[in-house]
Amino acid sequence: MSAEGDGSKRRQTVAILTNVAHISAPFLTVFLVVHLSAPALANVGGSSLSSNVMLLGREYYQTAFGERYLLFTPLAAHVASSIAKRIITPRSASPRKITSTHSLAAYSTLLIFLPIHFYTHRVFPADPSPPIFEVGPSEVDYEFVKTGLARFPWRSWVLYGGLVASVMLHAVEGAQIIQASRFASQKFRMRSRTCKIVAAAAVVPVLAGLWTVSREPLMVFASLAERYEAVFTRSWVYRI
Ligand code: HEM
Ligand code: HEM
Repeated sequence: MSAEGDGSKRRQTVAILTNVAHISAPFLTVFLVVHLSAPALANVGGSSLSSNVMLLGREYYQTAFGERYLLFTPLAAHVASSIAKRIITPRSASPRKITSTHSLAAYSTLLIFLPIHFYTHRVFPADPSPPIFEVGPSEVDYEFVKTGLARFPWRSWVLYGGLVASVMLHAVEGAQIIQASRFASQKFRMRSRTCKIVAAAAVVPVLAGLWTVSREPLMVFASLAERYEAVFTRSWVYRI
């Protein structure tokens, strides 16, 4: 095939991958709004409201259908298409700098904060062997979060803070990228500094809610608190 034919095929593939990355983003945004309303609402109703809101939220993202099609599939599609796009975009077309805020936030979420969070909050609690004895979904509530904050304070703050901040930065900048590429007629576009301010404004209620949770006394039996602790220490991050 001619070099020109090659080039146009590549452009078509890049366009498809961009569509996949952009169409999957709203699914992730909805998950984030649902998932982060729980800690944010602790500001008004403490950890018991957070636990109830999280329980409701799981109807959306933790059912057999929801988890697979509303969370994991969009997340996998989003990440795979964005990375594939970066790989095949020719240098001459100058792909986004890996050191841009948007990319750095994306990869720190993907490679550091999200895997640790997912393992400690979703995978390890399901371990049936002692001493965890399967901390079931009804037990992984905001008492679990509170116990983590009480027993491993600086780690919890770094990990929750890092996760929320990097996701928010990435999402706010991402929303701008989508707007610029799809609604080019709209003149309004935030500057990078404004994006950071908007992301910070979204992070504050979530972390303030978490702070409210951390100020409450622990309300769990010692036996459950030990199983919670065992969940966290299954991760090397909580053992070092
Ligand atoms: C203060 C911030 C956060 C807190 C307190 C928190 C808390 C929790 C808790 C308690 C769970 C287990 C129960 C459940 O699945 O609902 C969980 C699961 C999860 N969290 Fe978070 N989270 C926070 C932020 C985030 C962020 C920013 C993301 C996204 C990047 C995220 C992604 C996830 C995922 C993917 C799961 C597993 C959901 C599933 O498969 O069912 N979390 N989180
Ligand atoms: C759990 C959440 C998310 C993860 C782990 C994630 C991860 C990623 C990764 C790894 C990239 C590739 C970055 C690069 O190579 O430069 C990317 C690109 C992108 N993400 Fe996300 N993302 C998430 C959520 C979101 C959300 C909520 C939005 C929008 C509201 C969004 C919008 C975008 C956009 C627009 C791109 C660039 C696509 C393009 O090249 O046109 N992402 N994401």
